[in-house]
Amino acid sequence: MLVLGIESSCDETGVALYDTRRGLLAHALHSQIDMHAAYGGVVPELASRDHIRRALPLTQQVLAQADKTLQEIEGIAYTQGPGLAGALLVGTSIAQSLAFALNVPSVGVHHLEGHLLAPMLEENPPAFPFVALLVSGGHSQLMRVDGIGQYELLGDTLDDAAGEAFDKTAKLMKIGYPGGPALSKLAESGKPRFQLPRPMLNSPDLNFSFSGLKTAVLTLVNNQPQLDEETVQDIAWEFQESVTEILTLKCMKALKQTKLKRLVVSGGVGANKRLRERLNEAAAKRGVSVSYPRLEFCTDNGAMIAFAGAMRLHAMQQSTPDYSFSVRPRW
Ligand code: KG4
Ligand code: ZN
Repeated sequence: MLVLGIESSCDETGVALYDTRRGLLAHALHSQIDMHAAYGGVVPELASRDHIRRALPLTQQVLAQADKTLQEIEGIAYTQGPGLAGALLVGTSIAQSLAFALNVPSVGVHHLEGHLLAPMLEENPPAFPFVALLVSGGHSQLMRVDGIGQYELLGDTLDDAAGEAFDKTAKLMKIGYPGGPALSKLAESGKPRFQLPRPMLNSPDLNFSFSGLKTAVLTLVNNQPQLDEETVQDIAWEFQESVTEILTLKCMKALKQTKLKRLVVSGGVGANKRLRERLNEAAAKRGVSVSYPRLEFCTDNGAMIAFAGAMRLHAMQQSTPDYSFSVRPRW
């Protein structure tokens, strides 16, 4: 089955073609980062308008890349939520209109299921069951995954998500947008000098809390006589150490608790080099394998939506198609 996937939940328009027999055929992405940078964050109305401009040219681009025509598409997957309502509506209406016109089935995909399954697009995909760490701008979750659609939540953040903590901390140190990649780049030149807390590191559960850490950075920043480049690098270093230590320890705890031997990491923060370093080291000690998506599929993309949608469409019984435009911003 040849499936077109469309992602438009936030500030990235992603389109891809996934074939259930041949794998990922083509993918294309347009990031709006430069457009939103001037505002220090995503402006929802601008995001929606840009998705409108990009979605169809990107669709034509992936069709050309894969040497396919619109008429060869056998199913359409789109991000139905969670995300920005207006942005989701753009992808949803384009996907549903195309599906109706082509008379093919369509499926609304949960954005997080897309992220969660992204590592399965790589060579040697992880076999079920596994523990998944999903760390993005909106979520920090640990899950037990037994198959497509079989997810058990093991732990969640009580406040800020890991990516959100990176972004907010970067913002309060005025180090650019988006904060995660910028902060981790600065941390590479930092050294141990400050001490920040490790919230919930030793709590018996598998939950996280990152908002106190961000407040601790704010206090530290306010107490500095001067926020020179070296100080910023050293704070960034310690902040990254704190977040990656907590995430690594909780992953190991989840593996121990579930007695599973496979860990799968996804979401934007999954691109963080230090996190990968720590997880690889801890996993090797315990004889656990770790899988990651390639870097470009850690953050939002169309390939993960095409893949998750293809798995869902493939498994779906023949049913009456539903081409309504309903989005689920808080799904
Ligand atoms: O998965 P994603 O693209 O979007 C959501 O669904 O939220 O994740 C974006 C998040 C942002 O918070 C961004 O700052 C963070 O992932 N991020 C990183 C890195 N690359 C992206 N955080 C830390 N280190 C990175 N290298
Ligand atoms: Zn995402």
